[in-house]
Amino acid sequence: MAVVVRIGVVGAGNMGADHARTLARFVSGAEVVLLADPDRQRAEAAAAAAGCTAVDDPLALVAAPEVEAVVIASPDATHPALVRACVEAGKPVLCEKPLSPTLTESVALINDLGARTSLVSIGFMRRFDPGYTDLRAAIASGSLGATLATHSSGRGVSAGPGSTAESSITQSAVHEIDIVPWLLGAPVEEVSWHAPRRSSSGDFADPQLILLRTADGALSTVETFLNARYGYDVRCEVLGEHGTVSLRQPTRTEVDSDLSRGFPYPPDWRPRFADAYRLELQAWVDYLGGADRGPLATAYDGMVASAVADAVIASMRSDGARVRVEVPQTGGGAA
Ligand SMILES: NC(=O)c1ccc[n+]([C@@H]2O[C@H](COP(=O)([O-])OP(=O)(O)OC[C@H]3O[C@@H](n4cnc5c(N)ncnc54)[C@H](O)[C@@H]3O)[C@@H](O)[C@H]2O)c1
Repeated sequence: MAVVVRIGVVGAGNMGADHARTLARFVSGAEVVLLADPDRQRAEAAAAAAGCTAVDDPLALVAAPEVEAVVIASPDATHPALVRACVEAGKPVLCEKPLSPTLTESVALINDLGARTSLVSIGFMRRFDPGYTDLRAAIASGSLGATLATHSSGRGVSAGPGSTAESSITQSAVHEIDIVPWLLGAPVEEVSWHAPRRSSSGDFADPQLILLRTADGALSTVETFLNARYGYDVRCEVLGEHGTVSLRQPTRTEVDSDLSRGFPYPPDWRPRFADAYRLELQAWVDYLGGADRGPLATAYDGMVASAVADAVIASMRSDGARVRVEVPQTGGGAA
């Protein structure tokens, strides 16, 4: 790969526009050359901000000779076909999570691509968030003793259009489904799903509570709450035999006023994880230039997350039954 990697970005929505701008402004060794979105106006606005050319056909972007590597940030259902097109064109691809909305599609994709799945990375960016990397280092240091439990919550202001109980798992909780076993260094073996009475602001189960049992014997709780209203808020506490370690709110300011002290919450995930997105994109570009993969998630990691999400949805459909996670054997291996 050349010293400067020429990148095409597919999707000019929240994430595509953000990734294109971050790559253009803050990532060394990268140049954004094309940006594709069927919504031409969006494509042009995001391309202008990133200083590149807009097109409306994602497959034309993948085929374009000036594009050496692709970032996919289009809707979840488009991921498998676009990943397949990139790999068939021999181009490395960083695909936003999830690899696909269903386990069946994830497995079919990995089986079809075989060894070429090594061209694929998945955007589980929490692995690059400084808070989560500190949590992982604290666990690995052994200073807290053996880990007994973790408690996570992922809350948003309001659910996006068309959200369902199932899509909250495959789109939102999938971040915790990836990060909890990554923190603990142990795969998820069993899950169960629970929910309280329905909130007045939602028309599907929200919040949802998930229990994850990992191979190290720890039990993890995950709350996912899309209509939490008050702000975008991600929490994680790890409970060890000798102490706990938690994420702090990553705010830079606090306000003292009216007999109280407080800090602002971001309206969505982009400010909260801006450092993580930048570090992830830099790590991917460095990897294309010959550096180690580091914590960049693989297609196999994406398929494992699909398997856990699938088990959570099976538990949802069987009134919270404990469901074993079955990770299918794939031809693509664990690379
Ligand atoms: N890693 C994270 O923290 C994170 C956060 C949010 C979203 N995501 C993921 O990023 C992806 C994009 O999410 P978003 O919030 O930017 O959505 P969005 O709705 O804001 O934008 C999606 C864009 O894709 C375009 N699009 C539709 N069909 C397309 C196609 N076939 N090819 C190319 N573009 C197409 C739409 O016109 C739209 O501009 C999703 O897969 C989502 O799950 C990841």
